[in-house]
Amino acid sequence: MSNDERTFVMVKPDGVQRGLIGEIISRFEHRGLKLVGAKAIQLDRELAEQHYAEHEDKPFFDDLVEFITSAPVFAMVWEGKDATHQVRRMVGETDPAESPPGTIRGDYGLDLGRNLIHASDHEDPGSNEREIELFFDEDELLDYEQVTAEWQY
Ligand code: PPS
Repeated sequence: MSNDERTFVMVKPDGVQRGLIGEIISRFEHRGLKLVGAKAIQLDRELAEQHYAEHEDKPFFDDLVEFITSAPVFAMVWEGKDATHQVRRMVGETDPAESPPGTIRGDYGLDLGRNLIHASDHEDPGSNEREIELFFDEDELLDYEQVTAEWQY
């Protein structure tokens, strides 16, 4: 398992509007993951539909696209060992009401349509790379030494 797996994470409009960007970043930093890309952006319909394309036949698709374009999001790339799977564990279940305390959704959410954060699916191989490419140019991703790396691995 590589120590530099990259994964895509996005604080959704509810997380941005509730002022939870810093709290969410802190959790991943404290876990030892490395932030290698970040930007606040307003998604347009085209990018939102592309990002959620696999769900276009789902009954909630229109609501999801409307919600994700309703206010800015905070898109990030995090790097570390088993990053995609570990981030998903920290995010919790799709439905915040089913997410255990200690997870981001379990600590801050109650409603399925307002679940604060998106993270690449570790059960869908390649989704992390696809999503990173959709949101970031290669030159927007940073290469630097993390001082914690020695004790971590
Ligand atoms: S599925 O059916 O299992 O493939 O769907 P799932 O992976 O659970 O969810 C896909 C994304 O849609 C969001 N979602 C919803 N949004 C609004 N309303 C409803 N009812 C709803 N159900 C699911 C869910 O949070 C997923 O978005 P991301 O951003 O990946 O978390």
